[in-house]
Amino acid sequence: GEAGTGRLRMAVQKKGRLADETFDLLKRCGLSLSQSKNRLYARVQEMPIDILLVRDDDIPALVAGGASDLGIVGGNVFEEERAGGRLGSRVPLVKPLGFSKCRLCIALPKEDTYSQPADLGGMRIATSYPALTEDWLEREGVKGATTVVMNGAHEIAPRLGVADAVCDIVSTGGTLDANGLKVAETIYRSEALLIGGPLEGEAKKVADALQLRIEGVQRSRD
Ligand code: PRP
Ligand code: MG
Ligand code: ZN
Repeated sequence: GEAGTGRLRMAVQKKGRLADETFDLLKRCGLSLSQSKNRLYARVQEMPIDILLVRDDDIPALVAGGASDLGIVGGNVFEEERAGGRLGSRVPLVKPLGFSKCRLCIALPKEDTYSQPADLGGMRIATSYPALTEDWLEREGVKGATTVVMNGAHEIAPRLGVADAVCDIVSTGGTLDANGLKVAETIYRSEALLIGGPLEGEAKKVADALQLRIEGVQRSRD
């Protein structure tokens, strides 16, 4: 926990779809936040927990580096940071939370024919998940494909001529469809994860109490 205060730190996404569902989970856990959303943290009233409001991409490293005790982050982001070698040797424990489910998919223009991974040979693939994409291409033995890192708007990359395919998150499929793309392969199935620990002493007690509340919410959803 934060030195001297005895409060546990948990990093969550500041805004976005994962953030909406994370705040919903905390509310269902009976936790209220003393927050103004433009601040960098909020205090949980009912438990000694401070919520750090950050970009989701930063959460795995904040937890692995010990700046935050816990984090809630999409498996897509966590696995990309790990595959990219950015978590060092202290990889946190992981507990699946069952929400924010989505797929990481390689997608192609609708008019392209696709039957197998070898068809991606030599292609440039626009993505913000280069490590997961390159690992998959290597496992499948795809020859000569490369990644082009983009931080957003991947779906227009083929029309702009900067890539032949994209590897991006698909939830409803609406974004792909609106951009004339179709799924070729699902390379990773993602959901929100609680990451952090192993913890000791008072920090472990608070984390265990939080996990009990989360498990209660999960049971009431089943
Ligand atoms: C994600 C993803 C896609 C889109 C897919 O972006 O990058 O662009 O959602 O969702 P759909 O299948 O329901 O259309 P998001 O809005 O999370 O923003 P980001 O990529 O900037 O993080
Ligand atoms: Mg993001
Ligand atoms: Zn996108």
